[in-house]
Amino acid sequence: MFGFCKCASGNNYAGRGVIATANKQIAVPDTADCIRLMDEYEMLDNIRHHSLVVARIADALIIELLEDPVHTSAPDRALVLAGALLHDIAKTPCLDGSCDHATAGGDICRKHGYPEVADIVEQHVILKDHDVERYNSGRFTAMEIVYYADKRVRHNQVVSLEERLDYILEHYGNNDQERHHVIHKNFQRCRDLEQALFRVLPFTAESLEHRIRFPQLPDTMWNDPWA
Ligand SMILES: [Fe+2]
Repeated sequence: MFGFCKCASGNNYAGRGVIATANKQIAVPDTADCIRLMDEYEMLDNIRHHSLVVARIADALIIELLEDPVHTSAPDRALVLAGALLHDIAKTPCLDGSCDHATAGGDICRKHGYPEVADIVEQHVILKDHDVERYNSGRFTAMEIVYYADKRVRHNQVVSLEERLDYILEHYGNNDQERHHVIHKNFQRCRDLEQALFRVLPFTAESLEHRIRFPQLPDTMWNDPWA
């Protein structure tokens, strides 16, 4: 489906896609595996729908980056897609405030044998690394693509970074100045990433929404009940 193999059942990677990077092979769940995990962790329909739109945005970005290997060093498409589909895997169990959904989501992915996807999930809210120099050289990680895609989707709507920022301040800012400061700082980093991304991409940040009108995900995802 994405150019990665499914290993024969019975070995360590049974039921998982395996992709080869420059240095090693990594286990990545395919779309069906991601849906099974959504079911297992009882992801609510609205969160599935959000995750699906984030995946479409991330996929639209990665497809274009992969088209332009001269200017960019793009991460693997299957890894980006799995990270996007699973970034909120722990949102439902954490809705009661008992856990941080990014950390808990990373733990879930690690438990199922997907450490590289876990890294993406853990950092989809706030990136640990912020390397403007690397961004400006056209090199982006799967983590950064998913982090950015998630910032462009409010519920299941594609919005601008500023619209998403307003929503986050209103719903998670708690009228707390320190919290507002952290949120603003995170969004400034996201703006830096956006600027670098759209310096390389052949379309604008404003037109991103229109890039997902065409089916770029497998048919099984387009026939999903949340679309
Ligand atoms: Fe999200």
